[in-house]
Amino acid sequence: MFDRILYGGDYNPNQWEKAVWSEDMRIFKEANINSATINVFSWAKIQPSENEYYFDELDEVIEMLSKENYDIVLATSTAAMPGWMYKKYPEVAHVDYDGRTHKFGGRHNNCPSSEIFRKYSSRLAGKLAERYGSNPHVTCWHINNEYGNYCYCEKCEAAFRVWVKDKYQTIEAVNKAWNMEFWGHTLYDFDEIVVPNALSEGIGYDKTAFAGISIDYCRFMSDSRLETFKLEKAAIREHDKDTAITTNLMGTYKGLDYFKWAKELDIVSWDNYPAYDTPWSQVAMTHDLMRGVKDQQPFMLMEQTPSQQNWQAYNSLKKPGQMRAQSYQTIAHGADTIQFFQLRRSVGACEKFHGAVIEHVGTENTRVFRETAELGEELTRLSEIIGAKAPSEVGMIFDWDNYWALEYTSGPSVDLKYVDQIHKYYRYFYDQNISVDMLAVDADFSNYKVIVAPVLYMVKEGMKEALQAFVENGGTLITGFMSGIVDQSDNVHLGGYPGPLREMCGIWAEEIDALAPEQSNTVVLADGTTGTSHLLCDIIHLEGAESLAEYTSNFYAGSPAVTKNNFGKGQVYYFGTELEPALLDKILADATAAVKPVLAEPTKLEVAVREKDGHRYFFIMNFTDEELPLPAEFVGKTDILKGHVLEEHDLAKYTTYLVKM
Ligand code: GLA
Ligand code: ZN
Repeated sequence: MFDRILYGGDYNPNQWEKAVWSEDMRIFKEANINSATINVFSWAKIQPSENEYYFDELDEVIEMLSKENYDIVLATSTAAMPGWMYKKYPEVAHVDYDGRTHKFGGRHNNCPSSEIFRKYSSRLAGKLAERYGSNPHVTCWHINNEYGNYCYCEKCEAAFRVWVKDKYQTIEAVNKAWNMEFWGHTLYDFDEIVVPNALSEGIGYDKTAFAGISIDYCRFMSDSRLETFKLEKAAIREHDKDTAITTNLMGTYKGLDYFKWAKELDIVSWDNYPAYDTPWSQVAMTHDLMRGVKDQQPFMLMEQTPSQQNWQAYNSLKKPGQMRAQSYQTIAHGADTIQFFQLRRSVGACEKFHGAVIEHVGTENTRVFRETAELGEELTRLSEIIGAKAPSEVGMIFDWDNYWALEYTSGPSVDLKYVDQIHKYYRYFYDQNISVDMLAVDADFSNYKVIVAPVLYMVKEGMKEALQAFVENGGTLITGFMSGIVDQSDNVHLGGYPGPLREMCGIWAEEIDALAPEQSNTVVLADGTTGTSHLLCDIIHLEGAESLAEYTSNFYAGSPAVTKNNFGKGQVYYFGTELEPALLDKILADATAAVKPVLAEPTKLEVAVREKDGHRYFFIMNFTDEELPLPAEFVGKTDILKGHVLEEHDLAKYTTYLVKM
């Protein structure tokens, strides 16, 4: 896609005097910055009124960056609408979950069904493409910004009715799918359908009386926002046939089905903002997800902060070396670019405390700049990595339908969180340096030895057959509690849990107990190891499976907590409860014994690999607080980041090496 590693980020020269621009160019050059993402929030500037467009300033910015040979990531500016548009066409504003119509202000807040928004956003994208699409320095289009936010206005309600009719055809089918006999909600006409928010089926902010309706609304909103993206994309394509088009995603953001979105992007890009206490394994997992949404293809890191954020509760600084290590972790998991938000720290408004390559002092004499320049220099020598793959034998299912359904569900526990549950398993593989591909539910499983599907709560049509075929052919499936429970509309698969997975799991889970945070059960593994379990406890009957662990407390003491079933040439493991990590790890180690870590030697370092043209690139990083020895395999090898031969020694926190083999 790109012939060098894009290094740069969000740049807003329009917020500054011209004298600052040339100073920026001088300073950025010292950091080997070669790319700028521009025009992200300039709609009001470019279109001062309905029929007037003004491009002079953007022309100058693009001319300056082109002269400096930048890769320009050109945004379409449609993520914040001009004030005049609200005044003239109040319908562009979105209506929130509480039913309040918003005024001019903020961003990421248009109604996706607004014809006015659709018309003017795509017109603007088209005008930009007409003007700049043939500039060879414009190497990527960035449509809108961080799509999200649901709208509950009457236009969206009307559009939802059309979407529902299209999906279900008859009102009888809708009643059945949404189980409308419950609480006497039977509908007789599509016009009786209302949006599920605080004024209708909502229970608080995150639960709903009718998950069937709410899940369909998530699907509809994801589709509607995607529709507005596609309109801008089509407008660009009228003038520019081949420049890559993206929009910046947000990792495990709940609102949009990124597997569906990724099909419309030429390259995935995303914004990585972990908090001070986000586990590094979770950051790695999120990168893998962003690689996974588009068939394991490399992605762009569109944004990260060089130092600190402003919008979290506690915006700690990145410690010396941390930004560098974190950037290499990003590349290790599939990124081909490193871009920052932002290049110069803003003078006012809510992001003035957001870190930037050039801080408020305005010079290059800062720690943050020196670290940025160090990384920039190294990246100039790494373009050979562009396009390299990160092959995996383990696939882990991530599914937005499951995300929505599991978290809408009332009971059995409020602590059941989708991303947490996925991460609990991912963390094991991360600790072992086993590479993982994040997969859609309808992915091709045949290339993997192990498929991990925690909380596969919603089993949609075709899923049972796909998983059975995978296991029958010798695969290992790992699943567990809250799996196989409902269909695409959140109606239960009757006949005993785990529903469609019951036969391949060889068990029947008769009841599901919920434990409060202060409660736990005790369990014993088949080899005598004892420990605790939490959150949920399935009470399991064996139907051909063997028991790998039993409860030793509560009224179900003696019944199986974890099971294994041979099915065809493969096996299915079922974790009926949330085991403490030491026990989970023990069973997973047996279950995945056939899978190779990227490095045979156990280590607490993160070691991740990308492969290209017969070479393997080992990224070696210390994210722990301990000093850790360099694994023997790398002693005597050259760290291609610094060009030094690595000797036996201990690596301090955030030390990072890259070894090519
Ligand atoms: C998001 C946005 C940026 C900026 C950063 C700050 O990712 O896309 O415009 O607001 O957050 O962290
Ligand atoms: Zn709307």
